[in-house]
Amino acid sequence: MKRIVQFVVLGTVLGVILSALFIAVPWFPTEGSQQSKNNYPLFIAITYVSFVIFAVVIVAMGYSLWKFRQRGPSDLRDGSPTHGNTLLEIVWTSIPVVIVVFFGVWAAKVLDDNEAHASNGRVVTVIGYSFGFSYRYNTDGGFTRNDGLYLPVGESVTLHMITPLFTPGTKNLEVIHGFWVPEWGVKQDATPGVIGKTVGTTYVKPTRVGTYQVQCTELCGSGHGQMFFKNIHVMTPSAFESWLTKAKAEAAKEAEASKANPGLAVFNDSGCGGCHTLAAAKATGKTGPPLDDVSADFARAKAQGKTSATDLAGFYKESIADPNKYIAKGYAPGVMPNGFADNLSPKQFDALIAFLTKGAKG
Ligand code: CUA
Repeated sequence: MKRIVQFVVLGTVLGVILSALFIAVPWFPTEGSQQSKNNYPLFIAITYVSFVIFAVVIVAMGYSLWKFRQRGPSDLRDGSPTHGNTLLEIVWTSIPVVIVVFFGVWAAKVLDDNEAHASNGRVVTVIGYSFGFSYRYNTDGGFTRNDGLYLPVGESVTLHMITPLFTPGTKNLEVIHGFWVPEWGVKQDATPGVIGKTVGTTYVKPTRVGTYQVQCTELCGSGHGQMFFKNIHVMTPSAFESWLTKAKAEAAKEAEASKANPGLAVFNDSGCGGCHTLAAAKATGKTGPPLDDVSADFARAKAQGKTSATDLAGFYKESIADPNKYIAKGYAPGVMPNGFADNLSPKQFDALIAFLTKGAKG
């Protein structure tokens, strides 16, 4: 009994030292939300308990290895057989029960706090697609931004995760993506078929102004490795208000422009801007080649005999209808999905080509 007390005391001391050393390493990202503020103490408490249990076991095991070692080749003694020890069994069952219940209750409280939000608060739908995120400001008029998520500091926001049914502009069924901002301490999957009202929902109350990175956490295809964007902007309330006013005005202007410019509408509706940069569409995607000037690629494709197009319009047509015929310099094959052209009516396709050709400086 005295020995067991010694193991526990020594193990606890060692466990606390190991935990303190472990926690001294800055594993965690900067605390950027009420959610991560709720999570971190729980993580740290679990670390302490785990290291103490680990150290008690290691101390007892180390002592036994040393104490009951074989003393020379002729030492063939065996320990005396033991039978059950009721007290010991009660103790080693009740300690884990207490630990599990304690952390279970604490974790449930953290989860509950993390989901605390005003039911009439701001709601944003996060659209995860191959390979990007768009943000629809449901409670601010329903406009959609492809250039990142903008939020005011100190205000709880509801984030619904969805995927489009198909990868924008293709006949390919969309796949799962994960929305994760490490500083916020929350992660939520956007799952095809899940509308996002209950299961696909997460909440965040940003507490620190700054620009953060969102990262996709589900292996979603060839573009997964590029599916991270440093475009999560947490702003002061006044900066956010002026951004919102500007964003609403831009959205209204864009809606007008789409009416007047059907090619731009097709470009936006097909999600081209998620992967491509094009000034004429205010698109800033980085997964695929920029579309402002494709004349160098057109020349290269001609030199390599990989295009039969005679002009830029033809080159655009071919690149959309058969994206793997010529791969732009510096990009991987198979990233641009097949089937964009099949998914558009001939009229839409022509409007898109006209728009791209006009937008290009080539
Ligand atoms: Cu989207 Cu990984």
